[in-house]
Amino acid sequence: MQRTLISKTINKIGETVKVSGWVHVRRDHGKIIFIDLRDRSGVLQCIIAPQTKNYEEAKKIRPEWVVSFSGKISKRPEKLVNPNLKTGKIELSVEDIEILNEAKTPPFEITENTINIHEEIRLKYRYLDLRSERMLKNIEMRAKIVKFIRDFYTEKGFLEIETPILTKGTPEGAREFVVPSRLHKGKFYVLPQSPQQFKQLLMVAGLEKYFQIAKCFRDEDQRGDRQPEFTQLDVEMSFPDEKEIRQIYEDCLIEIVKKYFPEKKIAKIPFPELSYEEVMDKYGTDKPDLREDKKNSNELAFCWILNFPLFEKEKNGQLASSHHPFTAPVDEDTELLDSSPDKVRAQAYDIVLNGIEIGGGSIRIHKRDLQKKIFEILGLDEKTIQERFGHILEAFEYGAPPHGGIAPGIDRLVMLLQGEPNIREVMAFPKTGEAEDLMMGAPSELADKSLKEVHIKRIF
Ligand code: AMO
Repeated sequence: MQRTLISKTINKIGETVKVSGWVHVRRDHGKIIFIDLRDRSGVLQCIIAPQTKNYEEAKKIRPEWVVSFSGKISKRPEKLVNPNLKTGKIELSVEDIEILNEAKTPPFEITENTINIHEEIRLKYRYLDLRSERMLKNIEMRAKIVKFIRDFYTEKGFLEIETPILTKGTPEGAREFVVPSRLHKGKFYVLPQSPQQFKQLLMVAGLEKYFQIAKCFRDEDQRGDRQPEFTQLDVEMSFPDEKEIRQIYEDCLIEIVKKYFPEKKIAKIPFPELSYEEVMDKYGTDKPDLREDKKNSNELAFCWILNFPLFEKEKNGQLASSHHPFTAPVDEDTELLDSSPDKVRAQAYDIVLNGIEIGGGSIRIHKRDLQKKIFEILGLDEKTIQERFGHILEAFEYGAPPHGGIAPGIDRLVMLLQGEPNIREVMAFPKTGEAEDLMMGAPSELADKSLKEVHIKRIF
């Protein structure tokens, strides 16, 4: 018999079905065994009576064992209806049992919310943690949101294009993960902090509208809203109108909230636009929480922050990019680049939700000379500029169109919409605060032989 999903059993009263899944809870009432069986779609009460075939086998069944039950779906007596369960009006009278796999007792209760379990244990046994209802809901909602975004941007004429993971550094202000090359002794790939340069080069290539659900890698100190690898909706378009880039994402967010979070209320539509200067003056931060009630996670106060300064000063007095060096200055400020670069505003924007930056973008420089000048202001000498950015400067000489884009973080958005306290709760396999994968045991040591192959010598 073919397997029926538990959610589909609701309409099968009187029919014989086979369901498969995990033993969620087992209760014994005299000789009758009650098993709540769980699959991804729900939980179903199954009743095993002494006359059930394989009854003796059934007595051994423990939580988290994997089983198939076949039998008849019947209506529960009125007083035994469980209003908290989607299948609360029905039950399965088990006629046959198949034990597919046994299970050790899990190190924590999967039937409860696991949020208060020590996180190291949850991460070591992530495959068990993901069985819990809250984690499953987070992962399911993340998949729905990503699918929605994909369809939304595709319908608007954006092409989904993958860009390389083994590449050369692209500056976004964090340290980079490096991968030694076997074929090129002493050389290294760098994992991308974002697809920034590739998406700009796709604009030079004439692809006009690009998006990607992109993995990004940053070797930076961890926080609740930061992971060493995370996911962005990465977007770029040619001949852009800054407002249009922002408007498309704003519309996408409004639709996501309407469709999947009808209980939530967006504080203001259109999203308020505030200049960097204004927010710093008024709120003392560029990530203001504009909710009326700061504790209300059902209130969504989105806002755009515009016109960031192009540069910020580092401790040693050297100027650094506030966003990244490809960001264009505001046109009328360009003449200040030589005399007072610290006064130059950027055509850059962030989107903030309830006090957390959920995305950022800018109009880019598309002219070689201006881009080179920015690198020089950033203190890079000619040789470094050529080594690190010669390719993009050259590309700008072959008819680079005006372009711009945005990159909202997917993890942060899903975290805020799901009302979770950190992004690990909405990632299937996140790393710890120390950037470790406790389940796989990464990072891990490599044998001398493997190191030799990539021309690395141990000095410790
Ligand atoms: P930026 O560096 O501002 O811009 O990143 C954009 C968004 O990515 C998310 N994000 C992170 N999420 C989780 N963990 C991290 N370590 C992390 N770092 C960033 C945030 C952030 O707002 N290339 C540019 C975008 C552009 O100009 O188009 C960029 O990456 O939500």
